[in-house]
Amino acid sequence: MERTLAIIKPDAVQNGHSGKILDRILSEGFAVRAMKLVTLSKTEAEGFYAVHRERPFFGELTTFMSSGPCIPLVLERADAVAKWREVIGATNPADAAEGTIRKQFATSMGENAVHGSDSTENGKLESNYFFPEHVIVANS
Ligand code: CMP
Repeated sequence: MERTLAIIKPDAVQNGHSGKILDRILSEGFAVRAMKLVTLSKTEAEGFYAVHRERPFFGELTTFMSSGPCIPLVLERADAVAKWREVIGATNPADAAEGTIRKQFATSMGENAVHGSDSTENGKLESNYFFPEHVIVANS
């Protein structure tokens, strides 16, 4: 079993897509081990995306991610990182495959509905950015 961090981003929450995305998460066989609704401060968004701080879109990205409530979730299943990235699709919705969450719900490269960690190591680091290890529910 592997864990990854997903975020239902502010655009998807604002547009009322959270329920459908949660339903998709469960139907793809993920177990939700932690979840919360939170509005990030600009500083918190900058901390989460610190790896992108030199990118030209950093300001736009962190302003958007702190613009309203989002839903971070720790997801668990076999091959969670790769499987979640397959389910969400390409970063740019114009390149996202049919049937992916971004194809269905994303409106632009910046406002792309959901986030997924890009490696097992980052899945753990990113999960712990929102949830200390002791609040992540263990597999029973
Ligand atoms: P995410 O998977 O959350 O990881 C980094 C985010 O940066 C990415 O989704 C996009 O939302 C955003 N991003 C990446 N490239 C661009 C870009 N060229 N312009 C605006 N936002 C971008």
